[in-house]
Amino acid sequence: MPKVTFVTHDGVTKTVEEPDGVSVMQAAQNAGIGGIVAECGGSMMCATCHVYVAEPWLSKLPDMTATESEMLTMTVSERKPSSRLSCQIVLGAALDGITVELPEKQI
Ligand code: FES
Repeated sequence: MPKVTFVTHDGVTKTVEEPDGVSVMQAAQNAGIGGIVAECGGSMMCATCHVYVAEPWLSKLPDMTATESEMLTMTVSERKPSSRLSCQIVLGAALDGITVELPEKQI
């Protein structure tokens, strides 16, 4: 199962494993990671699942859709070049070991 590591704004790390096909947002919810709110449940309508994706993982992600890019203009914390919506990142073998940093605030 792919692993994903969450790094909180305070620098605390937690690594979890989830089956292929689970989103990074859902992995965070399953693990009780507090820094991801995910108000809309993954339907790309809230931008409260904002994460910063570290390299080399960022380059491995599919290009973001226009809708994801639009939603990322509404984040509470600063949008950076590494910003993505974690509900749109689907775990699989290619992303095994992905590390995402949580922004200071989601709401
Ligand atoms: S959970 Fe709402 S946009 Fe990702």
